[in-house]
Amino acid sequence: MSVRGFFVTGTDTGVGKTRVSLGLMRALQAQGYRVSGMKPVASGCQSGAGGPENEDALELQRCSSLPVSYTQVNPYPFLPAVAPHIAARRDGVNIQLSVIRAHFHALSEQADFVVVEGVGGWLVPINAEQTMQDVALALDLPVVLVVAIRLGCLNHALLTAAAIHRSGLRMAGWVANRMDPACEYPGELVAELEQRLPAALLADVRFARGCGAVEKQFGGMVTESLLRD
Ligand SMILES: Nc1ncnc2c1ncn2[C@@H]1O[C@H](COP(=O)(O)OP(=O)(O)O)[C@@H](O)[C@H]1O
Ligand SMILES: [Mg+2]
Repeated sequence: MSVRGFFVTGTDTGVGKTRVSLGLMRALQAQGYRVSGMKPVASGCQSGAGGPENEDALELQRCSSLPVSYTQVNPYPFLPAVAPHIAARRDGVNIQLSVIRAHFHALSEQADFVVVEGVGGWLVPINAEQTMQDVALALDLPVVLVVAIRLGCLNHALLTAAAIHRSGLRMAGWVANRMDPACEYPGELVAELEQRLPAALLADVRFARGCGAVEKQFGGMVTESLLRD
């Protein structure tokens, strides 16, 4: 088996990427795998003891099977909650794929899988030339697409899937996240996407409030097709 991890992207920011990443980590751990989480680039941080710390990265760090340092999980934390390349420019930082790759490989050495959460959506810029797509390409990981099931999601999901396909990376599957209780016809939207997206529906997640309630819905997510190279 040579899949070393997954890159979790979404149709937008705030669509459930962190909840899905944590759910995927727990589901892999339940099957006996050692898993690390990674959030290579994060904006919207608080000041911590050793520098800026991002809530997503802290959760991924806590969920990792073996102790990992904050910097290993999140080499590029930025305080302001703006697009990362804007935050990086303000801090005089140039986000480099080689640094992200080195941190990923360090994490891979002590884990069977590294679950990497993107920032925002697929084409969020990380510097003047590159986007999150280049991070996924640099790590050469199969992609899990999280779709927030709501008005507009068909277009966002199909555009993202087309871009993933164009990148040459494999879409390992997608997750329907019914996180909007006001959404009308959510079942129809999920059914449309099942027909039109070029990968398997890994989990159909219901609205759930409370700590860990979303992640608990990923028990059956780790299938042979997800783990196939
Ligand atoms: N299925 C769901 N039901 C209820 N709340 C959800 C669900 N999925 C995500 N959320 C909430 O929506 C917010 C955004 O989710 P998050 O995983 O942080 O998104 P992202 O990582 O894509 O920015 C969080 O407050 C999260 O708890
Ligand atoms: Mg997140």
